[in-house]
Amino acid sequence: MTPAVVPGFRHDSLLIGFKPIDDLHREFQDILDALLDPAEADLGTHLLALHKHLLRHCAIEEEFMRQEAYPHLDRHRRAHERLLEWVADVRRRFDAGDVDGTRRFCDDLLGWFVVHAQTEDAELAAFLKGSPV
Ligand SMILES: [Fe+2]
Ligand SMILES: [Fe+2]
Repeated sequence: MTPAVVPGFRHDSLLIGFKPIDDLHREFQDILDALLDPAEADLGTHLLALHKHLLRHCAIEEEFMRQEAYPHLDRHRRAHERLLEWVADVRRRFDAGDVDGTRRFCDDLLGWFVVHAQTEDAELAAFLKGSPV
């Protein structure tokens, strides 16, 4: 199955105008590119890198929220928790031999991520830059 996501293509919609989070989002795309490379044999290694990245990515955003007493911390953190449970489940299924499911997950994840960046992360970025919520 051909992935809907083209490695190397950059979604401006992932960038939200707050550099520390934008840097995380660029890093996310680089890891996703590696996962999507059809010539890449080491899918498990990249899936592990993605999981580690997302754990750090979510923790950094949540630290910004705590430091600045962000009023929607709980809601945003719940979205992160669902994401991390999803990734953990995909890794379990990959370990059981589900390679096609992992490829499909990469496509679905980018869709999820665009929505999350444009809603939760964009709202957080606006708050961190001084906009009222
Ligand atoms: Fe993010
Ligand atoms: Fe987030």
